Amino acid sequence: MRKDFISIHDLSLYEFTKLMDLAKEVKSKPDRFHKKLKGKILTMIFQKPSLRTRMTFEVGMLQLGGEAVYLAPSDIQIGSREGVTDVGKNLERWVDGIMIRTFAHQNVIDLGASCRIPVINGLTDLLHPCQAMADFQTLYEKNKNLKSFKLAYVGDGNNVCHSLMFAAAKAGAKMAVGTPPGYGPNPEIVKLAAEDGRETGYALTLTNDPVEAVSGADAVYTDVWASMGQEAEKEKRAKLFAPFQVNAGLMAKAKPEAFFMHCLPAHRGEEVSSEVLDSRNSIVYDQAENRLHAQKAIMLSLMGEAKNHNE
Ligand code: CP
Ligand code: NVA
Repeated sequence: MRKDFISIHDLSLYEFTKLMDLAKEVKSKPDRFHKKLKGKILTMIFQKPSLRTRMTFEVGMLQLGGEAVYLAPSDIQIGSREGVTDVGKNLERWVDGIMIRTFAHQNVIDLGASCRIPVINGLTDLLHPCQAMADFQTLYEKNKNLKSFKLAYVGDGNNVCHSLMFAAAKAGAKMAVGTPPGYGPNPEIVKLAAEDGRETGYALTLTNDPVEAVSGADAVYTDVWASMGQEAEKEKRAKLFAPFQVNAGLMAKAKPEAFFMHCLPAHRGEEVSSEVLDSRNSIVYDQAENRLHAQKAIMLSLMGEAKNHNE
């Protein structure tokens, strides 16, 4: 494994598969790993709020025998009180790894380059790779073979959408992304994912029609219409995105037993109806659960002794 976990795009197919396998093993045989990070400390830098990421990294570290130190937005004021690079040069003297949730993606890249310890991307405006690793772990649990699987993503072409595209490209799944005009995924990410997926069977359809996106889908995924940091656009977006709400009517256009997915937190009655979120085919809490296992696998790979994994 490379030093940092910043984007699924950076992983080789082999590394992606290995991480998926390790996450599965961590989940099925947790006792095997309970001291693998004994004595190790992870610092968690948060510039945005969190439930799942905060909890699963901290609980994951504790379950692996290590400890986690939480730094709230007001604590270090990274980028204003002290530059990203200087923060990295300090932290590497005290701890064994850094998880960071921040705005600008470049912050994570700069932090990684500034220090010798692993840096894990816990969400940026551009990507949310830990989420997509957990989501694909969840999909592999439900469908052993994702080569003929169609994942529809409707809503905002945001950080979650981008990381799902990178994961789909590795897994060889088909993806359809339906967004209002002007809210599609970043063209550079579309291009990189297409390159990653050239030989895996990955294919992407981009559309402004939510029905076309979900038509025949095996799973329908959505996320909030205004991400953290976009609160000022909430009202404007609510109007534009209304036709993209995932409700029973839209789910009916997907395959009959299609899964509903969401990274959470969900805004009931906005991007998803409560009826769909609470439905039998909703796997949102399986996704949330797998954040723990997927991230334990990432931390073991980056912070553990490789030899320990085969004991
Ligand atoms: N899905 C996710 O990352 O949740 P949090 O923002 O609560 O961490
Ligand atoms: N797109 C959302 C994901 C939250 C987990 C955001 O960035 O706020």
